[in-house]
Amino acid sequence: MANAIQSSTSATRGLEGVVVTTTQLSKVDGTAGRLYYRGYSIDHLAKNASFEEVAYLLWAGHLPNASEISKVREDLVACRTAPSGLVDALRKVPLNAPPMTALRSIISLLGHYDPDAEDNGPEASMRKAYRLTSQMATLVAAFDQIRKGKDPIPPRQDLNHAANFLYMLTGEEPSDIASRALETYLILLADHGFNASTFAARVTASTLSDMHSAIVSAIGTLKGPLHGAANQRALEQFLEIGDVENVKPWFEKAKAEKRRIMGVGHRVYKVVDPRARYLRQMALQLSGTTGNPQVLDIALKLEEVVSEDPYFVERKLYPNVDYYSAPALYMLGIDADLFPTLFAMSRVVGWTAHVMEQWANNRLIRPRAQFIGDLDLPWVPLEERP
Ligand code: CMC
Repeated sequence: MANAIQSSTSATRGLEGVVVTTTQLSKVDGTAGRLYYRGYSIDHLAKNASFEEVAYLLWAGHLPNASEISKVREDLVACRTAPSGLVDALRKVPLNAPPMTALRSIISLLGHYDPDAEDNGPEASMRKAYRLTSQMATLVAAFDQIRKGKDPIPPRQDLNHAANFLYMLTGEEPSDIASRALETYLILLADHGFNASTFAARVTASTLSDMHSAIVSAIGTLKGPLHGAANQRALEQFLEIGDVENVKPWFEKAKAEKRRIMGVGHRVYKVVDPRARYLRQMALQLSGTTGNPQVLDIALKLEEVVSEDPYFVERKLYPNVDYYSAPALYMLGIDADLFPTLFAMSRVVGWTAHVMEQWANNRLIRPRAQFIGDLDLPWVPLEERP
C-alpha cells in the first residue's frame, strides 16, 4: 500500500489572507469598510471625480491636472471606434451567447488588430490600456445591438465615457442623472486589491505574456457568479422573489435549501461594502426618476431580513458591491445579462493598471500546491487492471 505524502507546507483554502505581492493601486480595508485608489478614498472619487480622472489616477499614479485631463479625454475618445473586422466577427457570435462570453472572445480577437499587441513596454502598455477601455464599451454595446437584430450605433465624440456607452446602447442621449449614475458605478468598481480577476490578470502578465491575454484571463475569471456575475444573479433573485410580501418566505426557503444569497458576503469586507452604500443611494435616487422601483423595494426588504438573521450576523455577511448594482443597473434599463460586462468595462482600468504595475517590477507568480495523493504506486499492466 502506497503512503500518502506528508508535506511540511499546508494549503490555505482559497488563498484567504495570503498576501501575494505589494501594490500602490488600491487599498481594501475590510474591517473599517474603506476603499482607496492611489491613496484617495472612494468617498471623494464617487462624489467628485469623473471616470476619466479615475482611470488616469490609476494608470498614471496621480490626479490629472487641467491639461492632462483634456488629453486623457481626447485620447480615450480618439480610440472609441473598434476595428471594423471586429464588428463583423461579433455578428458571427451566436445571438444567444452570454454577453460576457462574447466579450471574452472579442477581446482576444482585438489583440490581433492592436499595433502594440506584442510590445510590453510602458508607453505601448498605456496606449493599450486606453484602447481596451474605450473599445470594450463600444464592443459591449455593439453586441447588444447585434443580438437585438439592429446595427451597432457608432460612438459619439462629444459625450463622456459613461454617457457615450448609454447612447450606444439606446441611440438616445441619456439624462444627466442616468449618465452620472453609470459613471459613479464605473468609478466604484475600477479597482479592488487582489480580487480574483485582477489576480488572474497579474498571473498571466507575470509570465511576460501580452496585455490582451491578461485581460482575457481576467474576463474569464470575472464571469463567475461568485465574482462579477453576482450582479446579474442578484437581479434574477429579486425578480424571482417578485414581491416585497414574498421576501421573508423566500428567504426562509432559500436558507433551508442552503442557497447562497447573491450579492451578500465578501472575502475581505466583514462590514458593509463601502461601494454598496453608494450604489444603494444611487438606486434610491434612480427609483424616483426611472424604471420600476419594485426590485429595489425587494432588495431593501431582503437586506433588512438578512441583517436580522443570526446565521448572517455571526458570519458577518453583508451586502457587497453587486447587491445594489443590480437594482441600480436595472433601473438604468440595462439587461441583466449585460451586468457582468459593465463590471468588466469598469475593472478593465484596474486590470490594465495592475498589468503595468506587474511589468514594472516583474517576477513570475508561481505558487505551490500541497500534494495530498498517493506516491510510489506499483505499475499494473493493462491486462491485470480491475
Ligand atoms: N449566502 C449564504 N451563506 C453565505 C454566503 C451567502 N451569500 N456567503 C457566504 N456564506 C456562508 C458560507 O456558507 C459559509 O458558511 P459556513 O461557515 O457555515 O460553511 C461562510 O459564510 C463563509 O463562506 P465562504 O464561501 O467560505 O466565504 P468566502 O470568503 O470564500 O466567499 C463569497 C466569499 C463572496 C464568494 C461568498 O460570500 C458568496 O458566495 N457570496 C455570494 C456571491 C456574491 O455575491 N459574490 C460577489 C462578491 S463581491 C464582488 C466581487 O468580487 O465580484
